[in-house]
Amino acid sequence: MSRMMQKWVVAQPGVQHLNIEESPVPTPAANEILVRVSAVSLNYRDLGVIAGEDGAPSMPFPLTPGSDMAGVVVAAGENVTRFREGDEVIGTFWAGWIDGDWPEHARVVGGKLPGVLAEYIVLHEDWAVHAPRSLDAVRASTLPCAGLTAWFALVEKGALHAGQTVVVQGTGGVALFGLQLARAHGAEVIVTSSSRDKLARALALGATHAIDRLEHPRWDELVRELTGGRGADHVFELAGGDNLGASLRALRQGGRISLIGVLGELSMTLPSVPSFLTRPVIQGIGVGHRRALEALVRAVDATKIEPVVDTAYSFHKLPEALQHLERGAFGKVVVKMVG
Ligand SMILES: NC(=O)c1ccc[n+]([C@@H]2O[C@H](COP(=O)([O-])OP(=O)(O)OC[C@H]3O[C@@H](n4cnc5c(N)ncnc54)[C@H](OP(=O)(O)O)[C@@H]3O)[C@@H](O)[C@H]2O)c1
Repeated sequence: MSRMMQKWVVAQPGVQHLNIEESPVPTPAANEILVRVSAVSLNYRDLGVIAGEDGAPSMPFPLTPGSDMAGVVVAAGENVTRFREGDEVIGTFWAGWIDGDWPEHARVVGGKLPGVLAEYIVLHEDWAVHAPRSLDAVRASTLPCAGLTAWFALVEKGALHAGQTVVVQGTGGVALFGLQLARAHGAEVIVTSSSRDKLARALALGATHAIDRLEHPRWDELVRELTGGRGADHVFELAGGDNLGASLRALRQGGRISLIGVLGELSMTLPSVPSFLTRPVIQGIGVGHRRALEALVRAVDATKIEPVVDTAYSFHKLPEALQHLERGAFGKVVVKMVG
């Protein structure tokens, strides 16, 4: 009789349709690895996938959600060369984006492809990298999406360097990775938040300045003041809508805005003439490729950055973890599978 395992399944769109199911532990085929999952880091996107809002018509319900995991290789199929049994790994967010331009055949794990909220998963060996040596599984699980997104925006595509100023909006997963990576590179960081308590925690984490965005809806004016009128070199656009106009006003001439998030609205608008005069470099970010994830892992080991995990919930507490994500966490919310 085959060994059984538990996994979360959402039968049809809606968090109320999430249930734990039993199924046989899968067997890795050629070029696949069987991974015992240790921790799964949740992303804002997971809420949309479970609710059926994220590409729902083409989502293969019933589905197992979750994109980001850290785990241990417990078996390898034929011809596997990248990993051995016992290796600690983290998955890639994109299955099939290895380097260079995003290939159209790439799919997201935990969307079109089965997700990682399961005790065991099989992955093509190309869809995983060695985990950082310096992090436990809970922290390591946060790198594939939130960590890589910030790295791709600032380092892979952003030419970040010491002396620059980076603005991050809010204190969620992507924003705090941006903060930590920017500080590790010698840049200054201005963080905006709706919570005074979270601003204090961001300052303790190394932010140079903190702006209460509820108290200062024109937070861009404060950014200009804090940068001596020059404006910021990099801005993470995480909210969408008219907020992009504020990001532009906060930017120095020729500075860079990374279009990343839609926490407020799905579309983004810019005023035309100020855009001409500011000459922004506007780059869209779609997480990133495997080569950059490997570079981030090396950087984390070298700098000893410790990703910020607000709370780690047990496997059975996924619904509570999702509610926390919806309320807004300081950094990441993680589901811990073992121990
Ligand atoms: N394009 C990509 O590659 C990519 C990759 C990852 C994530 N994303 C997207 O990026 C966004 C952030 O993701 P995340 O995982 O970091 O989210 P998260 O961890 O859930 O961050 C939520 C935090 O963002 C802040 N926030 C919420 N609404 C805001 C608003 N209207 N304006 C400014 N800040 C706001 C709040 O911080 P305070 O409580 O401190 O105010 C909230 O706690 C999401 O839209 C996500 O889908 C995109």
